[in-house]
Amino acid sequence: MALLRVEKVYKSFQGFLALSGVSLEVRAEAFHALVGPNGAGKTTLFNVITGRLVPDQGRVFFRDREITGWPTPKVARLGIAVAFQRAQPFPSMTVLEAVVLARLGYTGQTFRLLRPLSSFPEAQAKAQAALAKVGLEAHAGRRVAELPLGDLKRLDVAMALVAEPEILLLDEPLAGLSRAERRRMVDFIGDLLRREGVTLLFTEHDTEAVLALADRVTVLHQGQVLAEGTPEEIRRDAAVRAAFLGGGA
Ligand SMILES: Nc1ncnc2c1ncn2[C@@H]1O[C@H](COP(=O)(O)OP(=O)(O)OP(=O)(O)O)[C@@H](O)[C@H]1O
Ligand SMILES: [Mg+2]
Repeated sequence: MALLRVEKVYKSFQGFLALSGVSLEVRAEAFHALVGPNGAGKTTLFNVITGRLVPDQGRVFFRDREITGWPTPKVARLGIAVAFQRAQPFPSMTVLEAVVLARLGYTGQTFRLLRPLSSFPEAQAKAQAALAKVGLEAHAGRRVAELPLGDLKRLDVAMALVAEPEILLLDEPLAGLSRAERRRMVDFIGDLLRREGVTLLFTEHDTEAVLALADRVTVLHQGQVLAEGTPEEIRRDAAVRAAFLGGGA
């Protein structure tokens, strides 16, 4: 059974069709890559899945329950977490505070933030556990602004995992990293999510990383699904090569 299912989704912006009948199934515990050139519609699809955008047509299901148009916090509480590419979430906070805040946001408690974060013991314990999972427990007291990019990316993952999701959506988790850091990050994400039993849907431009991490690949091109298959099938697919792999996208 598919954990997440997108059915014939359309989304346009001022007449520009960013998603044009996209269907996608992510099986439980799969590592599913969504690839395609700039502007293909990858982030737009993430926004539709997580309720940041409502599709013009089409439907989204999670475990056969329709969630089309659900507000983002409700989608998160159902078990779908997302980490978007971003520089510094809360630069002046400590690493622990950032994750506690993420947990409070997920449990709908941000309105109580005038209280010190230490008055939320449950959120603190969850945050500490999430930091341990990503190997940042020793950096809990550091300011977010002091972290090198690789650690910031781990922090992003911790802020998503603290919601205890069944599926994690990562939008370009390797962007900005050096080649060596990218390889380390691929190993880190793969080991962590397999250990946790978390399903992954991710976008990435680094073809080598995609082939190393994914067991399923969907290729998006101009808002449409061009191909779907194993990494090996996608590598061999003539239409994919013509559209962008061979073109160095
Ligand atoms: N809020 C918006 N308003 C207008 N146009 C938008 C909006 N969001 C996305 N688009 C357009 O929709 C198309 C798809 O954008 P999207 O960000 O989904 O692409 P992408 O596949 O994530 O690209 P990239 O690899 O560069 O991140 C692009 O042409 C983009 O300019
Ligand atoms: Mg994008």
